[in-house]
Amino acid sequence: MKKRIFVPGLVLVFVLALTPLLVLAQDDIEFEEFVTEDEMLTLSYPSEWVHEADTGFFPTFMAGTTEHALAQMNEDVLMPDSGDIMLFVMVVPVDILAEAGLEPDNDLALAELTTLLSGMFLEPDDPDSDNQPEFAEAAEVELDDELVVGQIEFMDNYLHGVFMLRELDEALFVITLVGTPLDEFNENVVAIGEQTISSVAYAGTREDLLAAIMAGPQVEDAPEGAMAADLDGAALVAERCTICHTADRINNAEKDEAGWTATVDRMIGHGAQLNTAERDAVIAYLSGM
Ligand code: HEC
Repeated sequence: MKKRIFVPGLVLVFVLALTPLLVLAQDDIEFEEFVTEDEMLTLSYPSEWVHEADTGFFPTFMAGTTEHALAQMNEDVLMPDSGDIMLFVMVVPVDILAEAGLEPDNDLALAELTTLLSGMFLEPDDPDSDNQPEFAEAAEVELDDELVVGQIEFMDNYLHGVFMLRELDEALFVITLVGTPLDEFNENVVAIGEQTISSVAYAGTREDLLAAIMAGPQVEDAPEGAMAADLDGAALVAERCTICHTADRINNAEKDEAGWTATVDRMIGHGAQLNTAERDAVIAYLSGM
């Protein structure tokens, strides 16, 4: 059964009437394979579209019908002009559930995960912002090759789109977002997102991904025999502790040294990358905050 995501009544009639035509139109779009420079991420995207990839943080790919669409994604201002279609793909580890206070091995259904992650990605950081997205109900949609993706349609003051979620394996997800201006959204846009998310392959594991990020460019791994006092605890926290959740989670916590020791060791258990000297430097910094 192919479940469709919610669309308001009138639009639904319109879309259903046009479906055969739009499916044909979508078949006309040629897709092209893209591989990141590190050869970890492979996917297909509409071949005429401008695009770029970023492997500095979570592996990311962005494409758009126009330079404007691409530039907006880069600036995280999603206010498309007429004719813009935005396509955003990111591979994320299950650990980002920590942002919602959940354990990484949490066993949520795909639709629930889709709801949770779409909120994390699309709701503005500022709760007072007057551009709050509205979400339809999340659905699990079976694509042609028996692949199931979570989908949730959303709309804010400028952007109408679908957020999609697919489990690559039990510890890695791929999210895909497609969006257009409010009155230009249609099934064709959804189909582009579906085709792209189906095509994504990532060559690594969750562990590869976390290790690559935490071996970040700013803070070198402490050399063997380094003393905690020589290390920059603040920089280490900023780099190694803000991957699975934001710094707010740390800034909002009040703990003494024993409390931070227990927390930091638990975080290492979750996958935070700190050697002994780095661990001690982080605990000393957090206890003195
Ligand atoms: C690999 C993912 C990951 C990394 C990296 C990570 N955390 Fe966490 N963090 C979690 C998860 C999962 C939770 C929620 C479950 C829990 O509390 O164990 C969490 C919750 C927290 C909390 C709230 C719970 C509490 O004990 O107060 C704090 C504070 C925290 N982390 C601090 C840190 C610090 C400091 C670092 C860097 C040393 C860090 N985190 C790095 C995954 C991570």
